Amino acid sequence: MPTGSNLLSALQAAGQPVSWSCRAGQCQSCLVQAPAQAIPAAAQRGLTPQQQAEGWLLACQCSVEHDMQLTLHDPASDGLPAQIESLERLPGDILVLRLRPLRPLRYQAGQHLTLWLSPQLGRSYSLASLPTEPLLEFHLQLHEGGAFSNQIRQAELGQRLYLGAATGHLCYDPAWHDRPLLLLARGTGLAPLQALARDALRQEHAAPIHLWHWSAAEQDCYLQQPLRELAASAPSLQLHLRTRAQFDTDLRALRIGSRNSLALLCGSPGFIEQLRRPLFMAGLAGRQIIDEAFLAPQLG
Ligand code: FES
Repeated sequence: MPTGSNLLSALQAAGQPVSWSCRAGQCQSCLVQAPAQAIPAAAQRGLTPQQQAEGWLLACQCSVEHDMQLTLHDPASDGLPAQIESLERLPGDILVLRLRPLRPLRYQAGQHLTLWLSPQLGRSYSLASLPTEPLLEFHLQLHEGGAFSNQIRQAELGQRLYLGAATGHLCYDPAWHDRPLLLLARGTGLAPLQALARDALRQEHAAPIHLWHWSAAEQDCYLQQPLRELAASAPSLQLHLRTRAQFDTDLRALRIGSRNSLALLCGSPGFIEQLRRPLFMAGLAGRQIIDEAFLAPQLG
């Protein structure tokens, strides 16, 4: 491989069956392993300490600087097997997928992982469940013509798939106990943030939690009923379930109740960019804004 070339591109040019999806270091579908070798730090960003210690790296984030001995990721041997327990279709082409892992998965509410349907077909999704719950839940936005969407539409109960390691920073920190939380999501960005809200309530978060959700289309929030039931039993949780058409108006009216607030954002990169300035103008510093973007259209 020529020095300075991108490892993923080089592997593809060499005809290696390496998987990929985002090319942005987010989905972890391009994992390769180079044990006991020098690995650029950028190629391990976002991986768990265990993955890093085992020599895993993201090929799309690796610039080739020297010869490397590589092993391609094999979900069937490197991943965690799980079987499909339920498939529930919701309005807006959303699929709620519930899995039973065959071994315990270590994760925090709000993190994400790669779901592998086959060795070459993996996509990153946020966990919508809590670690205290027996099943793992994911909310998948299905895309017309998407390779993963097409296959998961045909999946059957009991079917086995494989999971990567859970990662991501969109998790509740008990140190936030007295800080108002502003959770802002569009579409299935709601999956991690409703999990985070439930985790915060479980840990007896003391300050108000405002959960804003804008449906991706002109329809009701796909989790409207369970969220309203949750809010009815948790007075500190305030729901703002809105439609896409109300987004601009809502942004203009956005107010922060306390300068001590934290804002957590999940949705497309464009959604997150649209929120940054209004949050800043409302009085939040950059360190008070925690976001995670997903690249949904490409990932479908
Ligand atoms: S393709 Fe490399 S992390 Fe997504």
